[in-house]
Amino acid sequence: MKQGGSDAAKRAAGESAAETVEDGQVVGLGTGSTAAYAIRAIGRQVDAGLDIVGVPTSFQSRELAREAGIPLADLDEVSVDLAIDGADEVAGGDLIKGGGAAHAREKIVDASADRFLVVADPTKEAETLSGPVPVEVLSAARTTVAEAVRELGGEPTLRQAKRKDGPVITDNGNLVTDCAFGAIEEPAALATDLASLPGVVEHGLFVGLADEIHVGREDGVTVREF
Ligand code: A5P
Repeated sequence: MKQGGSDAAKRAAGESAAETVEDGQVVGLGTGSTAAYAIRAIGRQVDAGLDIVGVPTSFQSRELAREAGIPLADLDEVSVDLAIDGADEVAGGDLIKGGGAAHAREKIVDASADRFLVVADPTKEAETLSGPVPVEVLSAARTTVAEAVRELGGEPTLRQAKRKDGPVITDNGNLVTDCAFGAIEEPAALATDLASLPGVVEHGLFVGLADEIHVGREDGVTVREF
């Protein structure tokens, strides 16, 4: 996971996307440090009278949105107008997500949105996706998925927790295997292959889902549309 971006760049990206939120919208609230700036900015807009409902993509974004005073709903109660979410790597309109192990719920919310805005700092940009692809798996499928990933040319590594013995457990109670494929020349084909493996809950390749990316810099924001 690339973590080199400055807080100023992340803030610029998050706040730029938050500025596009309109009264009456249902807004998907992404996970991670860049989306957190958007959530806090939306919270300030709610304080000032903006009438929106947020749909969190993780435990983290739910807690943050609650602190920020954003009214919340579950995805099965509403339909999402706009989603704002971060990424670990961006190449054109394609993304790798899941550095925070939240990509399953993120994909459900982001894919359902009428518009999906990605917020990122310049360290996330690449010509070709090449970072490890997080794959959320049922624990019973850990070894069979790892073997299948090797057959697809990847090197799987079970993600370990930092302050707990043993693996990361997702918000959904599953495991995450980070799968290194090197340069991913055909992300759509790999996305299909990974999604077809029994026991895979969701993978972190977001292919063709993004409508806009807001890349924050210390001195401004570049917005690209897809
Ligand atoms: C969460 O699982 C990820 O998909 C995040 O959206 C991604 O890791 C971006 O996080 P940062 O903005 O903290 O880099």
